[in-house]
Amino acid sequence: MIIKPEIHGVVARSAHPLGCEQAVLKQIEYVKSAEPIKNGPKRVLIIGASSGFGLAARIALAFGGANADTIGVSFERGPSEKGVGSAGFYNNLYFKKHAEIEGRIAVNIQGDAFSKQVKEEVIEAIETYFEGEVDLIIYSVASGVRPNYQTGEMWRSAIKPIGEAVSGASVMLDSEQWIESSLEAASDAEIEGTLKVMGGEDWEAWIDTLINAESVAQGCQTVAFSYIGPEFTHPIYLDGTLGRAKVDLHQTSHSLNLKLANFDGGAYASVCKALVTKASVFIPGLTPYLLALYQVMKQKGTHEGCIEQMQRLFNSKLYGQANVPVDGERLIRIDDLELDPDTQQKVTALLAQMNQSNFVELGDYAGFKQEFMQLNGFEFDQVDYTQPVDLEKIIKPYLD
Ligand code: NAI
Repeated sequence: MIIKPEIHGVVARSAHPLGCEQAVLKQIEYVKSAEPIKNGPKRVLIIGASSGFGLAARIALAFGGANADTIGVSFERGPSEKGVGSAGFYNNLYFKKHAEIEGRIAVNIQGDAFSKQVKEEVIEAIETYFEGEVDLIIYSVASGVRPNYQTGEMWRSAIKPIGEAVSGASVMLDSEQWIESSLEAASDAEIEGTLKVMGGEDWEAWIDTLINAESVAQGCQTVAFSYIGPEFTHPIYLDGTLGRAKVDLHQTSHSLNLKLANFDGGAYASVCKALVTKASVFIPGLTPYLLALYQVMKQKGTHEGCIEQMQRLFNSKLYGQANVPVDGERLIRIDDLELDPDTQQKVTALLAQMNQSNFVELGDYAGFKQEFMQLNGFEFDQVDYTQPVDLEKIIKPYLD
């Protein structure tokens, strides 16, 4: 079949396997040329491994100096009558292919990370492939829902402000339309739902399960990802439902740090830069900021993608030095370049001029769109998109 991009609003409904391989290869190539990770972990579990920061972390750790073996957990769709499957599905498959070519162990576990069953499957995999212990656990799940296995109901996260309504714009990637909307303040139930889905509870459940199963190695670390951002994004992010969940995640990092201290290890929340990912394009009001930020950071030569952020996290913060550098709230900050005062001043000036009729010219819309397309395996020069793809042939050799 010939696979074409199918974009609905901010959601991609198709993915090109060969382009996903290119996306993985491009990241591998970057980390091989970057400053290496020294004294890195050898056995890594990544929960949320198939795209965005989780995939970048996996690639950095496997190819960027640590030569780590990895177990990756994700929730993705393979090909079916409904469609070709999700980009994350192919990212997993091609990560495994290229990791194995270089002699690394790469195990993909697909299922609901929130479930007890997947946690047990992972412990079994740790027994089988890692001699029973992990050195690093990355928690990088971004989801809109979490099943409550006790009641059979779903907790849903809502991306909303708290207290009062805010307005902001989203850009529809299919029609190139800038859509202004007003978001009502979240209800208590929505705040609670977001906390359950995106807060620290499940991260803690993973670490507790791993400790109880004696799967945590001496010196084991764990990291989850957070966002703080500048004032412009605070009403919809930091001061909203997602920010509430991130504060919970930060608090969880402190309690996990105490638990892992028993193993001479540690737990951190790492505050990352705002980037185009499958999850972030959903956040209303964030797109104009991303367009302005990309424009300014690219002009200044300070722009980073997920892979640059992750390589820097591991080679300059988490490994290779006596103490992990943190701020006054014990957060790792790799959002420093984003929050640089000159960058923010320029971004603010640009945002003040940006509107529905000039965002394509003023902001880095071309870069934003290309990054989104490439997340789904499109717009790579190396791929001939006019050629048919045999999905069955592609997936057969790499399934676990
Ligand atoms: P993403 O959408 O690219 O990746 C999310 C991952 O979670 C995927 O591997 C997906 O398969 C997995 N996942 C989702 N539901 C799952 C489930 N039920 N079971 C197992 N796996 C599941 O998202 P992104 O942006 O990389 O987000 C990762 C973390 O980074 C989140 O905590 C997010 O808040 C944080 N972050 C993101 C920023 C951004 O600008 N994109 C900035 C700062 C932090």
